[in-house]
Amino acid sequence: MNAREIVSGVSALGAQDFDRRLFDELIPLPDGTSYNAYLVRGNDKVALIDTVDPHKTGVLMAQLESLSHLDFLIIQHVEQDHSGSAPMVLARYPNATIITTPKAKPMIVDHLHIDPQRIRTVENGQILSLGGRTLEFIHAPWVHWPETMLTYLKEDRILFTCDFLGSHLATTELYGREKERVYEAAKRYYAEIMMPFRAMIKGHLETLACYKIQIIAPSHGPLYDDAAFILDAYKHWVSDPPANLVVLPYVSMHGSTQAMVDHLISALTDRGVRVEPFNMTVTDLGRLATTLVDAATVIFATPTLLVGAHPTIVSSAYLINALRPKLRHASVIGSYGWAGKAAEQITELIKNVKVEWFDPVMVRGLPGRATFEALDRLAEVVATEHQNLEDEPG
Ligand code: FEO
Repeated sequence: MNAREIVSGVSALGAQDFDRRLFDELIPLPDGTSYNAYLVRGNDKVALIDTVDPHKTGVLMAQLESLSHLDFLIIQHVEQDHSGSAPMVLARYPNATIITTPKAKPMIVDHLHIDPQRIRTVENGQILSLGGRTLEFIHAPWVHWPETMLTYLKEDRILFTCDFLGSHLATTELYGREKERVYEAAKRYYAEIMMPFRAMIKGHLETLACYKIQIIAPSHGPLYDDAAFILDAYKHWVSDPPANLVVLPYVSMHGSTQAMVDHLISALTDRGVRVEPFNMTVTDLGRLATTLVDAATVIFATPTLLVGAHPTIVSSAYLINALRPKLRHASVIGSYGWAGKAAEQITELIKNVKVEWFDPVMVRGLPGRATFEALDRLAEVVATEHQNLEDEPG
């Protein structure tokens, strides 16, 4: 796609990646993604904000074809999907200087092998005048690396945010007009990338409340010309009270754990608790992560394989521990062949999330009446703990 004008003198560059289906070789991308870069022209100087993933460098360089001179390349985040084309941009514009945070400078040298002489660092709140246009750099660490910053174009009230507030959504629309689709993509993105840094994000949202923002321009997904849409969504997602919702990752090998899952879903539903079950052999990890943004409780349901939990459930527990959602409670249910340590193993994996553990319900072989009654008691405890929670979070 060609460059698109946002306002006179400010353009959206970059590449839509409609075909990409996996990020970090882990995260499914049902809607592809984009790598957005932005060109800002002042009366005196020209700045490029971010670049694109290396495999789309050709698209960016074609968009820059008619630009004879570049003064600044602003690197807001060092991860290669945004910085990866920087060496080619610098080669094309030998007088261009990289502008970035002090933390990012050595990372740019290490990740991209760029000459440190070409990098100038800026402090939080520092101003760069382009002549008639002013950029302010806002340090925003941990969205989602330690070196990240945002860039505010004062005269046009445009906030460039790189990963922060973005979405994995490839589209020909400059602004996302299908609000529900954009909301879901942005929430999925928050869940997968930003959720572990919820506490830091709360602080960044407070900082941004001091800025008048007309347009938010992330480096993934469409722009927002209604800044409140995405800022309010983020406030909602990082807020403390979870929803009246149980996430239930499960696997069953011979049907016994499946029977327990089915019974527990009914028992929870009968008591007014919403449940989102995920068969981990087929589920999309992004859907699991998105549901964890709101959930109050997770219950792992696992058969026993080689004395431990099923590896797929171990993997889901590892991921949940890394994502650090605002869960309050957890438990484990499942069936084993002769003996097992599945419940203890899963409990050991969840150390980053401060949850209260409900007693596990584990049975040897097929579940019978005593097991179903134990599951009813578990559902009762969950319902009691959830009684003051809203069905929708926030
Ligand atoms: Fe889109 Fe952290 O890179």
